[in-house]
Amino acid sequence: MTDSQGRRNFLKGAGAAAAVSTLPLSMVKLAFADPAQDFTFAYISDSHIQHISGNKFVRNWDRGLIRAVAETNLLSPKPDFVMFGGDLAQLATKEELDHGAEMLSKVNYKTYMVMGEHDYYLDLGEYWSKLFGDQYYSFDHKGVHFVVLNSILTFDEWTHERWPTPEQRMLEMAGLDNPNGSPFMVGEKQREWLRKDLEKVDKKTPLVVFSHSPIQKIYKGWNFWTDDAEEVQALLKPFDKATVVYGHVHQIQYNQIGNIAFHAVMATAWPWPYPQSYAQAEQHLPVLTVPMNRADPFFERDATGWQFIDVGTGRVALDYNLYNNENRRVAFNAAKGHPEDMTFQDPARRIPPQVHY
Ligand SMILES: [Fe+2]
Ligand SMILES: [Fe+2]
Repeated sequence: MTDSQGRRNFLKGAGAAAAVSTLPLSMVKLAFADPAQDFTFAYISDSHIQHISGNKFVRNWDRGLIRAVAETNLLSPKPDFVMFGGDLAQLATKEELDHGAEMLSKVNYKTYMVMGEHDYYLDLGEYWSKLFGDQYYSFDHKGVHFVVLNSILTFDEWTHERWPTPEQRMLEMAGLDNPNGSPFMVGEKQREWLRKDLEKVDKKTPLVVFSHSPIQKIYKGWNFWTDDAEEVQALLKPFDKATVVYGHVHQIQYNQIGNIAFHAVMATAWPWPYPQSYAQAEQHLPVLTVPMNRADPFFERDATGWQFIDVGTGRVALDYNLYNNENRRVAFNAAKGHPEDMTFQDPARRIPPQVHY
């Protein structure tokens, strides 16, 4: 089976799942010269489970996660594992994390977790770690080295001294458009761990890094930003092929910095507007990125969908399957040396949102 045959077969299977869904679930395929090594995994992110009171939670966010989990279990071919990209909870309470974990427990596959700022800033990740384990780690799967980072840490003073209560600290960080927030960072301790972890990996091994915030600087005002991005990028630089996949921004973004390709995934909860839609925003959306068309940024299922990722050439190609909108394909153009839109959404062909649920 050639890569392109494999891709067609895969898309057929994925299409069947997509037909019954409107959900932001990412399907990832890692294709190799030897098809026996091919494998796929699914990616769900940013569910923002929000507690109201008693046993009441915000219904839309619950539905988003429940449906993503159901679709993951229906996928064909079966994913080898599932990634959850962070922001499981809205305000990191025990109720939210328990409720989210219960929904995620319905996934039929091994699930790897990424820490989001909404999971962290109430108790600094204590309860999350009790439920899900380490906040940063690595693993190997069928010839690929995967790294999960906790990229949403910040300065000690902000974390430990500035706020009278943990609840206030959580609220300040949860309000992304908030001057009282603080820039995210991976931090020195974790960078040292990463340096040691990567030391033993052959530089020809495909490297895939998962973080919650982008390991690049896009827009500081909304914390679409990781303050020590350059230091982390320097550690990925020796690898022939490195990809960073991140959540947090709730929108399609892609970029190429040196040998590192960057791709954002979408959220199950809601889409974020692009920074440049705010006139006052000083922002650095990667120039490569052609923003998504959004018929209605306040429609919770607009600008959501799932991704098919193929790195058969060692370079990532993503098929963004957007519901209520035109699909997109972003692939590495070898001649130009960076990802580019192969098919993008023509503004004249926007499809208005159909159904609220
Ligand atoms: Fe989020
Ligand atoms: Fe986030």
